[in-house]
Amino acid sequence: MNDPSGVNLVRAVLEGVKIGSPKGDNLMPSFAAAYSDAEIASVSNYVIGHFGGKQGSVTSADVRAARN
Ligand code: HEM
Repeated sequence: MNDPSGVNLVRAVLEGVKIGSPKGDNLMPSFAAAYSDAEIASVSNYVIGHFGGKQGSVTSADVRAARN
């Protein structure tokens, strides 16, 4: 969230997150199918601005390129 280009953030939103713990896995769902490139770019820039305190520079083209 501190990276204005949002490379890891976009991947987390597209692919979801799975973090193991002794009590089981913590899962974040993938949002790749639910939202458009523009919507994911938009929410990523919001998150970078709100929590990273920086101006995000994520574009729709960046999100498209990050999709599998
Ligand atoms: C657009 C909305 C969201 C954004 C931008 C977002 C972003 C992130 C990011 C950046 C991480 C950290 C990944 C890492 O540290 O490796 C994360 C973790 C996580 N997210 Fe989300 N998330 C969103 C919505 C959600 C929703 C709706 C859920 C649950 C239904 C969720 C559940 C989780 C879980 C369980 C983790 C792992 C937490 C942990 O154990 O450390 N997220 N998310």
